[in-house]
Amino acid sequence: MNQQQLKELLAQMSLEEKIGQLVQLPGYFQNGGTITGPAGDLGLTQEDLRLAGSYLSVIGAEKTRALQEEYMAAHPHHIPLIFMDDIINGYRTVFPVPLAQGCTFNPDLVQQGASVAAKEAAASGVHVTFSPMADLVRDARWGRVMESTGEDAYLNGLMAAAMVRGYQGDLKKKGTIAGCLKHFAGYGAPEGGRDYANVELSLRTLKEDYLPAYKAAIDAGVAMVMTSFNTLDRVPSTANKWLMRDILRDEMGFDGALISDWGAVGELVPHGVAADFAQAAQLAIEAGVDMDMVSPSYAKHLKTLVEEGKVDEKLIDESCMRMLELKNKLGLFENPFRDAAKEEEDALLLCEEHRKAAQDCAEKSFVLLKNEENMLPLRSGQEKVAFIGPFVNNKFLCGSWAIFSDDQDTVTLKDALEKQESDSCISFAAGSRVMDRDGVVQGFQKQIPEETLDEEFALSQAIEMARGADKVVLALGEHREFSGEASSRGSLTLPRCQQRLLDEVAKVNQNITVVLFCGRPMDLRDVQNKAKAILVAWFPGTEGGPALARTLYGHCAPQGKLSMAFPWSVSQLPLHYNQLSTGRPFHGDYKAARFGSKYQDMPRFPLYPFGFGLSYTTFSCSPVTLNKAVLKKGDAITAAVTVKNTGHCTGTETVQLYIRDVVGSVARPVRELKGFRQVTLRPGEEKEVCFEITEDMLRFWDIHMNYVSEPGEFHLFIGSDSTTENKAAFTLEA
Ligand code: GLC
Repeated sequence: MNQQQLKELLAQMSLEEKIGQLVQLPGYFQNGGTITGPAGDLGLTQEDLRLAGSYLSVIGAEKTRALQEEYMAAHPHHIPLIFMDDIINGYRTVFPVPLAQGCTFNPDLVQQGASVAAKEAAASGVHVTFSPMADLVRDARWGRVMESTGEDAYLNGLMAAAMVRGYQGDLKKKGTIAGCLKHFAGYGAPEGGRDYANVELSLRTLKEDYLPAYKAAIDAGVAMVMTSFNTLDRVPSTANKWLMRDILRDEMGFDGALISDWGAVGELVPHGVAADFAQAAQLAIEAGVDMDMVSPSYAKHLKTLVEEGKVDEKLIDESCMRMLELKNKLGLFENPFRDAAKEEEDALLLCEEHRKAAQDCAEKSFVLLKNEENMLPLRSGQEKVAFIGPFVNNKFLCGSWAIFSDDQDTVTLKDALEKQESDSCISFAAGSRVMDRDGVVQGFQKQIPEETLDEEFALSQAIEMARGADKVVLALGEHREFSGEASSRGSLTLPRCQQRLLDEVAKVNQNITVVLFCGRPMDLRDVQNKAKAILVAWFPGTEGGPALARTLYGHCAPQGKLSMAFPWSVSQLPLHYNQLSTGRPFHGDYKAARFGSKYQDMPRFPLYPFGFGLSYTTFSCSPVTLNKAVLKKGDAITAAVTVKNTGHCTGTETVQLYIRDVVGSVARPVRELKGFRQVTLRPGEEKEVCFEITEDMLRFWDIHMNYVSEPGEFHLFIGSDSTTENKAAFTLEA
């Protein structure tokens, strides 16, 4: 349809019909949908159901086609439904969790993963995915760090834009789905790291640190935005007219559809800003929230609010038009079934090409934190290796948002090793439970199978196996449901049962590699003391097992870089590399800097910093050279280093560029990531890596809240992680 036809349709619709287009219902209303939030009786009528414009968590070619057919036949103007789902890190072929994807430092790879997810989801009748999540995160206690791409706004922006391109491409084309940017805004900074808690950000910090990644997704053309659960300046986002109309639409230029998060309109009542669902509906529609996800507010109260003159019908028309435009952008008026096709679905889901893509992404997401005495790679057929731990043969490797996948599709580490290696050199033992017996795990959607391990026997068997092995690989980590939504933690340590396994194995064999499965940075102090090698596997997805087996035996080398630091302790949180200097900066010398910004009883800096990651080879980086020392507006400085593979195998290094504005009209971070390049080098090979520095890279929100650069001295750093001191200085000319 063209715009005029949409306007004519809108003009023909009754008020009830228009309001229906602003209502999204959960799939379980259609028996069999997936529950991803607090459910409950919404008190809706059959008429509400008949007019609702959207369902979430309904998926499957046949199910969506049948539902679409039934609804369009019953709808007064036969307006098609729009189906939305949480396709966060893949649909049936599951990719590594987004935090791991951030560690690839490879937006093209992340775009490819989103494209695979879109092809599979589109064939299963999905029109919109609630992704990318572009929330900046600095507190690993918050469970949803696994859904983010880490602690750096610049990296997050590149990844969010890549996902939008991967999902959407040209929405008129086959195999695409609309993206939904979330959670707007600032959701990743809750007090205490507790999900849904209040967020306190200054306007400058919001604009400087938290909005850029959302902006990158908007500039990439994301079709929809979702409001966040949190309050910002004590105003819940879903009722925040300033945030949604002045900032999101006027300042950031977003003109697409805006949906609430699950139940967030109704939650304005427990937030204490609405006395009832009627007032909640009024606040949200006035803030410009176009669709009410799974709350009764719009469906039950908007009509009365308009009839009583409390809400201008123009607001309903505005929101209804945006929902019709989204459906039109997807071509639903011409083809309400879009890509939903059983045969296509059967051919695409988990196809070999998609599994390979997922495996490749997993291999590039692993981060090698430690590797002493060449513990890795393992030497195939030459050493006895005991693979021990609750994740050795664990199919729960897809993270807590892989809600539409089947864990039986996942290839475990043991499966992969048995296929790849000869039986004579490898052995397997669970060694412990995943969770302590008194641990509480509430699954979002999937049942948490009861662990029936005989712990004492399992431990003794593991110890004997370790005793007789040349090396031990301990596959440890946190339960899949210990990260994700509503999964904040006050501690970042391993469960006691796994700690005990580590302790006992370390008594009989010191050649330990720990492979860590997790959805967040964890406290690895003791692991670091007892293991000679540490490989972070995150939740690597459907093909995590083969990816790990290949990596552990050197068929590929780890190349991931931390997208979020591993703290020394949870007490350091929130923690981020690009912090302000303070008036008493602390650089590590506890004796010299008595009055430095530090702790008396623990280190000031993380155990493993942002951007850090080892390879099986080693690299050197030459001092930085600049082609000029003064930068003029409109000009560029070229900064260069020569990177050399100084080791014995081919490897990929991610060379990172950081810049510091030494003096600003407001305090500026000690450094900020401004670019990175990946180079793959054979042993002895070297390559020059160059970065162009231009004035626009130096802009920030100044003392007057103007987004400008300021003349003066700048330092730049080029190296292999955020702690590099490989530095050069230049001046920006007035
Ligand atoms: C959840 C999440 C959001 C998700 C939505 C639909 O509560 O906050 O990220 O997309 O509800 O499942």
